Amino acid sequence: MDSALYRPSRRSLLIGGAGAPALAGLLPSRIVWAATGGLDRTLVAGESRAALLGPPHPETAVWAYDGTVPGPELRLRQGERLRVTVDNRLPQDTTIHWHGVRVPNAMDGAPNVTQKPILPGESFTYEFTAPDAGTYWYHPHAHSAEQVGRGLMAALIVEEPEPLPVDRDVVWVLGDFRFRDDGSIAGGFNNRMEMSMSGRVGNTVTINGRVRDRFAVRAGERIRLRLINGAPARIFGLEFQGHEPLVIAFDGQPVEPHPPEAGRVVLGPGMRIDLVLDLTGKPGGTAPVIDKFYKDLEYKLVDLAYSGAPPLRPRPLAPPAKLPPNPIPEPDLTTARRHEVTLTGGMMSGMGMGMGAGMHGMMGDMMEGGAMWAINGVAMPADHSRHTEPVLTLDLGKSYVLAIDNQTAWHHPIHLHGHSFRVITRNGKPTKYREWCDTFLMAPRERAEIAFVADNPGDWMFHCHILDHQEAGMMSVFRVA
Ligand code: C2O
Ligand code: CU
Repeated sequence: MDSALYRPSRRSLLIGGAGAPALAGLLPSRIVWAATGGLDRTLVAGESRAALLGPPHPETAVWAYDGTVPGPELRLRQGERLRVTVDNRLPQDTTIHWHGVRVPNAMDGAPNVTQKPILPGESFTYEFTAPDAGTYWYHPHAHSAEQVGRGLMAALIVEEPEPLPVDRDVVWVLGDFRFRDDGSIAGGFNNRMEMSMSGRVGNTVTINGRVRDRFAVRAGERIRLRLINGAPARIFGLEFQGHEPLVIAFDGQPVEPHPPEAGRVVLGPGMRIDLVLDLTGKPGGTAPVIDKFYKDLEYKLVDLAYSGAPPLRPRPLAPPAKLPPNPIPEPDLTTARRHEVTLTGGMMSGMGMGMGAGMHGMMGDMMEGGAMWAINGVAMPADHSRHTEPVLTLDLGKSYVLAIDNQTAWHHPIHLHGHSFRVITRNGKPTKYREWCDTFLMAPRERAEIAFVADNPGDWMFHCHILDHQEAGMMSVFRVA
């Protein structure tokens, strides 16, 4: 074991570019961070240009936070305060949702539910303390398919008090764009056919806002790789060929370190996975990372490209320890109240649009040209302007088990705001890791049970994170009161 790995100062140096003072390398990181007292800044949401495709291609007109895609990575330590004033210079209203962070309801960024939309030319200040360490992200919750599809999304990293000992802490914000031949982003958002199927899956995948061939690595190093799926609709299923990454967190929440199921790291939109990736290849070698999620559509995401430098350490490291848990209340399954949640709609569901229980409301919405999907028969419109009455009302402080039934022929990454939940069963079988998540991918026709304590008062969005599905009705509100 390389003991140099365990010095926090080393890691502070590595993140020095993210706003830590220059002293970071000289002092124990705890002292430095205490002095920074969190984050206080503005973010401009506006039009910009970005080299998504890289030279020789022209820059692409995008919508961006502070001009970059992804937007600035925000980093703070667990328990610190974040204060961000968003200045809306977009041609549309917007909000920011701090995906996965258990914020107070008024800071959650759900337009017409937790706040008024931020109109063009207006601003809004978000302020909250980050209770949990982990990998999160932020994005608009208004016109989501278009705004995320044009580039508005970014990482939000909350550091553990004691950093995980690694050589590098690396964030990959995975993006997915639909380009025209001229390098511009194709319009035609919210295409009704796509909305009723997989959503708008793009034609070009980016890592941190750029199409990349290579990711430079050194033999023997250990990387904490924080994967964030910031795509509007694309699901990733990544294989790190010749390597054995270990999953150490889902959606920011620690899990017993384990190899991904069938060697594939699967991330639906909105999901995050932290990996410990030991670079066990040879100096000078390359190893592809392949995305195999969609049948017959596999492609190479990037090559891990080894420098010629000799291995960083003579022997592989011991497996990482589990990260310390976040202070999330444990649901009491013996007293938990149960609710059923159905997901319906979409093409090829067996009965036309497969509406089942919510037929009447859905028909009305469909005739207005909106809903194609529903949660418990309710289809909230994209702007959250109607059906803001909760489909479920939960008692503050009580434990709940929700049995979610995906009655559709499609995958859905299901996201609950303001809470993390344990996934306790899938298709009737207990899950091995009982993982905490805020977004989890349901397969077609899958049934799953999730459990949590409704401990955060307010009206919380519960929706599919394929943004075209969300905007075509697969969105609802749970009230915790
Ligand atoms: Cu990341 Cu309601 O969203
Ligand atoms: Cu969906």
